[in-house]
Amino acid sequence: MKIVETIAEVRKEVKEWRKQGLSVGLVPTMGFLHEGHQSLIERASRENDRVVVSDFVNPVQFGPGEDLASYPRDLARDAAVCEAAGADLIFHPSPEEMYFPDFSTYVNMESLSEELCGKTRPTHFRGVCTVVSKLFHITAPDRAYFGQKDAQQLAIIKRMARDLNFDIEIVGCPIVREADGLAKSSRNTYLSPEERQAALVLSQAVALGQSMAEQGEKDAEKIVSAMKELIAKEPMARIDYVQAVDGVSMSPVREMKAPVLVAMAVYIGKTRLIDNFIYEG
Ligand code: PAF
Repeated sequence: MKIVETIAEVRKEVKEWRKQGLSVGLVPTMGFLHEGHQSLIERASRENDRVVVSDFVNPVQFGPGEDLASYPRDLARDAAVCEAAGADLIFHPSPEEMYFPDFSTYVNMESLSEELCGKTRPTHFRGVCTVVSKLFHITAPDRAYFGQKDAQQLAIIKRMARDLNFDIEIVGCPIVREADGLAKSSRNTYLSPEERQAALVLSQAVALGQSMAEQGEKDAEKIVSAMKELIAKEPMARIDYVQAVDGVSMSPVREMKAPVLVAMAVYIGKTRLIDNFIYEG
């Protein structure tokens, strides 16, 4: 496995693979890899001849006052995870390699970014779509892998790939959880032991909402209210949003008519965590 820092080096590698007729999978990440990322890399390596993992904390998707500076970074650890999971190449560019000083072209998703995380992070998805488009152009993969934990991001990237005619299959992969239910996230590392315990309220709310939906509750508001009530009982938790939206259009729904995405963002202390489930009917 190689680690490269320049766009030219990635292009050279991929060109060689293409000459040999090999297929390429891309796993875009911001590093500090956990078992969720590992599952994406393993799947990519089962489904493609070669796998590129991008490891880049993308400044353009962070808003003012967010955790860009403190976002955890550990390339040596990431390299070990990538190697064990079957990656062939890590692309680890500097911000300067990715963005010219006068960079001014963005990819903006106009319709699916308004609800959920888009409300509190208004420029976030513009940053995600921009960097993911650049990574698609740089690595020219056959398939790209994204986790379902960022369900809105996955829906947005699928739409972007369709709208902009990227000839790339976008593969969504299930949420990976800790044994006690907490969804794996690089941001879990910010949590103190007490906060780590309090953070269980997210997956407990997901389990509650999911079981209400599976037992036939059709009123989306009832499900969301029950989840909010449960979270409100945890003193360390502050709800950013709990929302039920159409699984494709991401617009709010009143009725649990599948597919419905029920998603949440909750602050545990200063750490903003997300979780969700999809009701498939
Ligand atoms: O999900 C992430 O880690 C990031 O948003 C992504 C897709 C790697 C873009 O920076």
